[in-house]
Amino acid sequence: MEITDKVERINQQYLKSAGGSVSASLKSFLKKEPVSDWLIQALFTGPWLELGCGQRSLFEEGDDLTFGLQKKEDLYGFDLSDVAIERAKAHGRLHYQQVDISEGIPGGPYSFILDGHFLHCLGSFPELFTTLGHILRALKPGGIYAGEVMTIHKNISFDSDLYYDYDTHILYQGDIPIRTLLSAREWEDLFISAGFEISYFVCQASIKMIPTNHRREPMNGDPECLRFVLKRKL
Ligand SMILES: C[S@@+](CC[C@H](N)C(=O)[O-])C[C@H]1O[C@@H](n2cnc3c(N)ncnc32)[C@H](O)[C@@H]1O
Repeated sequence: MEITDKVERINQQYLKSAGGSVSASLKSFLKKEPVSDWLIQALFTGPWLELGCGQRSLFEEGDDLTFGLQKKEDLYGFDLSDVAIERAKAHGRLHYQQVDISEGIPGGPYSFILDGHFLHCLGSFPELFTTLGHILRALKPGGIYAGEVMTIHKNISFDSDLYYDYDTHILYQGDIPIRTLLSAREWEDLFISAGFEISYFVCQASIKMIPTNHRREPMNGDPECLRFVLKRKL
């Protein structure tokens, strides 16, 4: 899919929805030990970045999440959608920028990169691998990359307008690739082969992630939430 088509599709979704809310699940993950302790250690060693920040970064959520980091120069938010970025800029606390992260990550090196449910939005397995390389290189040695991704599992099922191709790992809506979904084992192999050190890797089977925004209530067959913390080796 052409990148301009992807931007247009995501922009249309944002234009249909009003203000930004942040993920409660991701927020609770970052605030819990041991992740919160690692983030406190990463505080003053370099800037922080959220990938796929949408129209409101999680870093806007107050000092409990940025652990006292308040200066605009410390906090960055990147997203592909110019509609989302323009809305995010209205909050004013971060440097927001429209970036296609699959092409590279400007600035840095960062001491912490947060994945705002961005990674599984990439359109193919090779794109995932390349993008993980960009993320690794954008981190300081010892820097942290953390987030949540959707995983497939043995009881997975999809809404009738979706089709999952088990060979390519791509989830389609009609003929449009909307997610790349892997099993927990496949995510683990991918993270390791991209060069990361795994510090935390927990599949939260009780947390279901809805692959489209057509539904609000999660169902048992939805993808499960995999929480990860990866580090760039020292
Ligand atoms: C599932 S949304 C999450 C948005 C927000 N973090 C939240 O939790 O509500 C994923 C975000 O990733 C962005 N995205 C997808 N592909 C991208 C790319 N190649 N480069 C930058 N951002 C991308 C989308 O525009 C979208 O805002």
